[in-house]
Amino acid sequence: MTLSNNVLCLQLQRRLLLVVVTFFLLLSSALAQGEEEEDGPYRGKYLGKLNSYHHQVSGDVYAVNEFTFLIVGFNYDGNGADTFFWSGASNRPGPQGFIVPDEYGKTNILDRYHNKDFTLTLPDRKKITEIKWLAVYDLNNQNNFGDVYIPEDFEPPMPQLGGTFSKRSHNVSSSSIQILDSKTIRIKDFTYDGQGKRTFFWTGVGAQPSSRGSKLPDERGYLDPIRKYNMETIDLQLPGDKTIFDIDWISVYDVADNENYGHVLINDGLNVPPSLVKVIPFEFSLPNCRQLHKDLQVSWEVFGPQITFQLSGQVAANDYMSFGISGSDVSSQMIGSDVVVAYIDEIRGYSVDYNITSLAPCVQVLGQNKGVCRDDVVGGLDSFQLNTYARKDGINTISFRRLLKSSDDGDKEIFLDRSNYVVWAFGQLDSNNEPAFHTYYPKSDIVIDFNTTEPVNDCFAFTSQKETPPQLWERTRITDASVRSFNAYLGPSGGLRGYQGLTGHVSSGLAWYINGYMIPELYLKRGLTYTFKVRGGNNPHSPEHYHPLVITDDPQGGYDRLSDAKQSEIRVLAGVEFTRRGRPKPTAAGPLCLSRYPPNYDRRLDDIFPTFKKFNRSLITECVDEAPALLEITPNITWPDTVYYNSFTHGNMGWKIHIVDSYTNLRNGARPLTWSLAIILLPWMVLQY
Ligand SMILES: *[C@@H]1O[C@H](CO)[C@@H](O)[C@H](O)[C@H]1NC(C)=O
Ligand SMILES: *[C@@H]1O[C@H](CO)[C@@H](O)[C@H](O)[C@H]1NC(C)=O
Ligand SMILES: *[C@@H]1O[C@H](CO)[C@@H](O)[C@H](O)[C@H]1NC(C)=O
Ligand SMILES: *[C@@H]1O[C@H](CO)[C@@H](O)[C@H](O)[C@H]1NC(C)=O
Ligand SMILES: *[C@@H]1O[C@H](CO)[C@@H](O)[C@H](O)[C@H]1NC(C)=O
Repeated sequence: MTLSNNVLCLQLQRRLLLVVVTFFLLLSSALAQGEEEEDGPYRGKYLGKLNSYHHQVSGDVYAVNEFTFLIVGFNYDGNGADTFFWSGASNRPGPQGFIVPDEYGKTNILDRYHNKDFTLTLPDRKKITEIKWLAVYDLNNQNNFGDVYIPEDFEPPMPQLGGTFSKRSHNVSSSSIQILDSKTIRIKDFTYDGQGKRTFFWTGVGAQPSSRGSKLPDERGYLDPIRKYNMETIDLQLPGDKTIFDIDWISVYDVADNENYGHVLINDGLNVPPSLVKVIPFEFSLPNCRQLHKDLQVSWEVFGPQITFQLSGQVAANDYMSFGISGSDVSSQMIGSDVVVAYIDEIRGYSVDYNITSLAPCVQVLGQNKGVCRDDVVGGLDSFQLNTYARKDGINTISFRRLLKSSDDGDKEIFLDRSNYVVWAFGQLDSNNEPAFHTYYPKSDIVIDFNTTEPVNDCFAFTSQKETPPQLWERTRITDASVRSFNAYLGPSGGLRGYQGLTGHVSSGLAWYINGYMIPELYLKRGLTYTFKVRGGNNPHSPEHYHPLVITDDPQGGYDRLSDAKQSEIRVLAGVEFTRRGRPKPTAAGPLCLSRYPPNYDRRLDDIFPTFKKFNRSLITECVDEAPALLEITPNITWPDTVYYNSFTHGNMGWKIHIVDSYTNLRNGARPLTWSLAIILLPWMVLQY
């Protein structure tokens, strides 16, 4: 070989090397991309593509936690004879292993799959770190159709511990935060004095908290300034499609003064489980949108003298959404407000104009309707025209329009030359399709400027997750044969753990308290005489606090509000007599005795109380010093086995009376509820673990 040949050779070798190196660089970057799966939602730790050998097996495999795989885009033609998901700890798939139950937890022979996403959980609490591979395997022929290997250094995604909130001012502090999954942050022992001006949970990117961030809904999904916290453990969920990989810090931040009261940094690249929350994208039809709560949006457009609104809410199918102009010009106030109540029933959608003169269901007070009343029952006009309504992916969307200045003088004008204080609420409808006590409503001022030159929009996608059923307060039964008299007075109905949870009925906000308990079930024996000492208010001018006690066979109560036809179907057992003209008249209206919240209390926090006893202790009881009205009853053979005590004026305040022939054997019959509830919840708890 000559010298020149040698040089040529070297040059050639270099070229080749370059090509080879470039090739490997490209390859490895391609591989890296495969590993990271940069685009698309975070799904956990990527384990790789299923190696495909037979029967068109393919798909991507992730680990979402120690026990569970997520398979994305899984395909299998279903033609194997005896084929299962199969896993084991041997070096490669073979007869040594165990069946991994399918996405339904079943160990059936696999059917055909076309581009399916699902999770598989290893049986018997086996961990992914204890196995070497997951395969689609035919047990009969011992044939491997496809597999994926667990890397040696695999670490399963797990909740990760983070830092503590820095203590800067307003007593902000916490223990270590926990990143539970890609969207959920648990703050332990969180404290804040509640004294900031416009202070929020605030999140964003960069080394330090700054005004260039965005609001984080509080633990109940509110976007209002946050309340005072005293060593509480709360879970915050990042809104819309945001994940912890999109943020660098969480702060308690005052946007009025641009001041950071304390913050915590979020580490990069946390190996946490993916969030199970489903993000529901939405399409706008109107240019402006305000997020009122995590689960409620209002969007609008002004056109000439007219404004079109659209309410979208993640609510139950029959729940109502309400929005309107405040009763006050200087704050957001329910009383005096002019609102729309929008809902969808089995047949169609509605946008009904309401006038709120008192925080109680609409009742007749001396010939006049008072409370939360439809405009058309208080002499006004329904000023809203329904446009469209739809329910999709658990979201109700209802659009309607009205004139800025409507022809009904009772309606509030919507101003364009200034901002408007607004109110909103959502919750359940009662059996008359009237709004019951709202579950969600703001406590702070909300101001909207409807006149926008550039569209404004702070809305984010809805996120849905399995709701944790609330743990109910203790159920009380008064089965003591020696108790023949009952003190009946009024108190708040509590939140989801209280009246609503215990009865499954919507609540009006108030409930009967009997012998110190909220809506106990009473056991009365036929032939014995019992006395109710009634203190539910005897001023018929009061829309909120006029509650004669009645006993009927109707669970809902509110006899006076019902139509004649409905009334005729109900058997009244006590508490009502009929005038000569056949009008019902209550007989047991006593002085008002009311357990009420202390001043400045936020009743939306009722569910924080673990028991009724503790809740009851937080209340203040005030009673008019007059003798109670007496309602004496002697149940007889004609009484049905279950009757109900209730209010004559409002629905959904009382509960059951069991009419028995003997008090013995009752103890066995009165089975505590906790068991049946546990049985219902068990599968759920196992799933969550
Ligand atoms: C802040 O905390 C201190 C003690 O840590 C306490 O004395 C003070 O009352 C707290 N301030 C507020 C407004 O809660
Ligand atoms: C609504 O209530 C207010 C009192 O708060 C009253 O002035 C107004 O006329 C009522 N509107 C209608 C439509 O009846
Ligand atoms: C709407 O806002 C614009 C600019 O802010 C203002 O010029 C206009 O007068 C407003 N419209 C009404 C009806 O007040
Ligand atoms: C609830 O509070 C009232 C008034 O303080 C009290 O009389 C009653 O015994 C309490 N009920 C219970 C179950 O503790
Ligand atoms: C049974 O009770 C009802 C309702 O209290 C009463 O109207 C009726 O007269 C009673 N019947 C008998 C047989 O005592």
